[in-house]
Amino acid sequence: MPTQPVRKAVIPAAGRGTRFLPFTKAVPKELAPIVTTPAIELVVAEAAAAGVTDVLFVVSPGKGAIADYFGTDDDLAQALRAKDKQAELASIEAPTRLARTHFVDQLDPKGLGDAVAHAADFAAGEPVAVLLPDDVMDERDELLRPMLDVYAEYGGVVVGLLDVGPDEISSYGCVVPDDGADLKADVVPLADLVEKPAKQDAPSTLAIIGRYVLPPEIFAALESTAPGAGGEIQLTDAMLALRHSGVPVHGVVFRGRRYDTGNKLEYVKAVVQLAARHPDVGKEFRAWLREYEPDAD
Ligand code: G1P
Repeated sequence: MPTQPVRKAVIPAAGRGTRFLPFTKAVPKELAPIVTTPAIELVVAEAAAAGVTDVLFVVSPGKGAIADYFGTDDDLAQALRAKDKQAELASIEAPTRLARTHFVDQLDPKGLGDAVAHAADFAAGEPVAVLLPDDVMDERDELLRPMLDVYAEYGGVVVGLLDVGPDEISSYGCVVPDDGADLKADVVPLADLVEKPAKQDAPSTLAIIGRYVLPPEIFAALESTAPGAGGEIQLTDAMLALRHSGVPVHGVVFRGRRYDTGNKLEYVKAVVQLAARHPDVGKEFRAWLREYEPDAD
């Protein structure tokens, strides 16, 4: 059966951002800037570049700044125009032009599966891409687009995969390739999925990173998914239920550059790496960085 094109994306953004307190007391963590661009804009730009036209943000009360950021600001635009600040004007208009944006509140967050379940009406029978905004992919390295190609070929579920090694795997959904699958290939059919296994129980070191393409059937599967790891409704469990009912599940192995903005240390590294190639400050920042000697105290 031919698959439908994927035009809709879901971005779960209801979390409290506890790891980034006190900043997140006032500002959603998704708006934490990479130099001047919030990480979430980079993620929406990635979806738009892959052909997505409509983005649903699953948010919680207190996250209205995300809607402000992707909305227009006529007063600010007028003020910038009056001062002929064209670059700044373009920068505030860029996020408003990427896609049509939609919002739904997740009032009582019960996990990633619960967040995605909130997109059922938005999906309206179509497949959706899900992008977790903590994961930023380097714009030179594509992941979502090849995942959409795999969806067009096989249908079913497609997840982004990264070999994270044995020490990190317990923080992720972990996958088991089909018997006989070529592990060196970029596209791997998957037999099993386990959410956050203990290091010693992990069946592989291949982790699901924050990119998914999900068929319309995922919403019925989520409805009958009981709380799993951590007492949360796990998207991993709903995808596995689909696999058990005969729906193909493929992983696309990412070999590019990924920035994890979800914890303090990785966020700081992401900012440094992306600042080093930023068009305004990159050259000078690289020169400074070469000379910089951190003071251990
Ligand atoms: C979620 C998923 C997990 C996935 C991870 C990717 O976990 O449940 O399967 O590997 O995202 O970032 P979370 O990071 O929300 O705990």
